[in-house]
Amino acid sequence: MIEVKDLTKWYGPRKAIDGLSFNASKGEVVGFLGPNGAGKTTTMRILTAFMPPSQGTARVAGYDVVEQSLEVRRRIGYLPETVPLYPEMTVQEYLDFMAALRRVPQAEARVDAVIERMHLEDRSESYIGRLSKGLRQRVGLAQALLNQPDVLILDEPTLGLDPAQVVEVRELIREIGREHTVLLSTHILSEAQQICQRVLIINKGRIVAEDTPERLQSRLAGAERIAVRVAGEASAAEGILRAVRGVISVGTRGPGQFEVETAPGTEARPAIARALIKADLDVLELHTQGISLEDIFLELTRSESGTES
Ligand SMILES: Nc1ncnc2c1ncn2[C@@H]1O[C@H](COP(=O)(O)OP(=O)(O)O)[C@@H](O)[C@H]1O
Ligand SMILES: [Mg+2]
Repeated sequence: MIEVKDLTKWYGPRKAIDGLSFNASKGEVVGFLGPNGAGKTTTMRILTAFMPPSQGTARVAGYDVVEQSLEVRRRIGYLPETVPLYPEMTVQEYLDFMAALRRVPQAEARVDAVIERMHLEDRSESYIGRLSKGLRQRVGLAQALLNQPDVLILDEPTLGLDPAQVVEVRELIREIGREHTVLLSTHILSEAQQICQRVLIINKGRIVAEDTPERLQSRLAGAERIAVRVAGEASAAEGILRAVRGVISVGTRGPGQFEVETAPGTEARPAIARALIKADLDVLELHTQGISLEDIFLELTRSESGTES
């Protein structure tokens, strides 16, 4: 469980995060989605008791990250942006070493368990320096799971992986998410959509939206776009389209080309077709264009930067 309240961090005169508040409950995979510099890593470093906040509080598994940092560290697994792996160690040696360093009880059994869990059995004797980036990330996840953490913090876990490795690591995270609370950062929308049950969109140190991927999409997009093309100039078409029930707005894209925004849940295409034909216009094209979460994300992060600068 993670409870964050009014978290603020200054680096000198610069505010990296600005009054963040959010929660994550047990067994939930929460995505922290935002562009570079949004404040994802800063927040994660505070949550892992790596550095204190300037203001506000954060509790992990019920413990305060400042007052009870040892208790927090004991209950947290952390995959940093760049995992400090030791290339001259084998996977087995590295995990044994990390388990000893962190004083993990029953270290031997735990190391075996995480090797199995991350499907690294046939790599345990390989040198880390020889592993692919994808395998190294699996070793990083294995080390984060050593202490059977209540909460896992994964900072851009698929960054720099090739597409096949991305799929594999995402699948592992989904598996992990069944048993642990996971907070995962990413700047990739589709990743948040695929892995997370809930998404927090962060921009310039502030949370600008928070919801399930599905609801974010429908609530914020709220509408559907329909592309319409009729023959000729068809200047009359705009007014006709506006009058159709369910139509919110009509934009002109070129001669005879329009983009129609409709209210959520309405299927306006049949009415649009009828109205245009009734006005003796030849309909050449009529199709929906979904508004993707990508569009919403760009919209949110763009409008936010617009008000700041
Ligand atoms: N150690 C640091 N010293 C000064 N500024 C920093 C430091 N780390 C991050 N920042 C700044 O804080 C902001 C948030 O950075 P960061 O948390 O790394 O964002 P993200 O992980 O979302 O890319 C950025 O403007 C970044 O330049
Ligand atoms: Mg970062």
